Amino acid sequence: MTQVLWLVSGLLFCCALAIGTDAEAADGEFNYDESKVPEYKLPDPLKMPDGRTVTSSDMWKAERRPELLELFRSQVYGQRPRKPEGIRYEVRESTPAELNGKGLRKDVRVLAPSKSGRRMELLKFVLITPKDAKGPVPAFAGVLLIEPTLKDLNPGRPLPDDVGVKLPGMKLLETILDRGYAVVSLDPANFCPDDKEKHRDGVLEFLYPGRKGDPAAEEPGAIATWAWGLSRALDYLETDPAIDARRVAVIGHSRRGKTALWAGAEDERFALVISNDSGCGGAALSRRKFGETVARINTVFPHWFCGNFKSYNNNEDSLPIDQHELVALSAPRPVYVASAVDDGWADPKGEFLAALNAEPVYKLFGLAGLGTSEQPPLNKSVGDYVGYHIRTGKHALTDYDWLFYLDFADKHLKR
Ligand code: GCU
Repeated sequence: MTQVLWLVSGLLFCCALAIGTDAEAADGEFNYDESKVPEYKLPDPLKMPDGRTVTSSDMWKAERRPELLELFRSQVYGQRPRKPEGIRYEVRESTPAELNGKGLRKDVRVLAPSKSGRRMELLKFVLITPKDAKGPVPAFAGVLLIEPTLKDLNPGRPLPDDVGVKLPGMKLLETILDRGYAVVSLDPANFCPDDKEKHRDGVLEFLYPGRKGDPAAEEPGAIATWAWGLSRALDYLETDPAIDARRVAVIGHSRRGKTALWAGAEDERFALVISNDSGCGGAALSRRKFGETVARINTVFPHWFCGNFKSYNNNEDSLPIDQHELVALSAPRPVYVASAVDDGWADPKGEFLAALNAEPVYKLFGLAGLGTSEQPPLNKSVGDYVGYHIRTGKHALTDYDWLFYLDFADKHLKR
């Protein structure tokens, strides 16, 4: 029983390092007053630099999308790491007792040949599939979506304190499996540690040996590297007959919500994108400077973004993009942005406005967005191809959020 509870809370483990959001929220240096949000003008996702307006989905795909993607690469997240040749997988299967017979677990190691000719581990992830599925199933994939409980992955990692509110008696992972989805959880610990001193120690050292320090101008930061890792997990899923790799949703909370949005932008094989409380550098508009700012995130987490992003510290108006255009890079795939009302640090309103301002791109495809231009009441999910809710409570990925995501995925991935 304890194990089951641990697993369930583990599934909500998404924030081990998010220390002190409330403390940050109390800090007078940051703005939490809507009346003090500066005036700003968002870049128009449909305006090309040469003055032309994007008028069709074809023009979006052929011209505007690649241009925006490149701006986010060069100015925010860094260039995509290359994919090494000769990747192989090593898979270990088990049936964890914690899952009450409902799930099959695979521990997948992604290996690439090193200079010495030996295969080295690039990354590893856990895949849990519903045991009695009749055919290939859709999946949710994310960074640390499951606490690597699942003991042997990472013994002794402490549980975070914001594992979230749980509906009484609910066993989340079992619910997800019962509803016919698999779960993929990428462990960043050795692959690209979330640490400014050590983020290069895994795959970045393998790909760019000998480099040191913070990411250079256009070098991938940790977010781009984690996103790249999710694509490598998706490569594997394409080879696994238990999974329908055309129906994989990428999802994440907070820093991993930023990662989910970027993974979806870089890799259009992800069929659906979900960002939970992703905040600054995720769904929140940078120009609002509400809660966490570009300068703050770049100072405290210099390893997350590329070097160029730092030139926008206290200089948001000169950004050639804003985060609504990141949300728009999901189009025409369904995208869901979610906020929590007591999570001012992540700027719930800025997250909503990014979703809203992504809509013109969905319209090009004839797809409906949020269906409202006002932030909806608490705990109500709105939207068709662009989904949104703002939940009561704090910064966390809760069971409650998951139930909305399952419904959204049912609507889009099971039709
Ligand atoms: C910090 C950081 C946020 C981030 C969060 C998390 O609070 O400032 O940008 O989203 O950690 O990942 O939980």
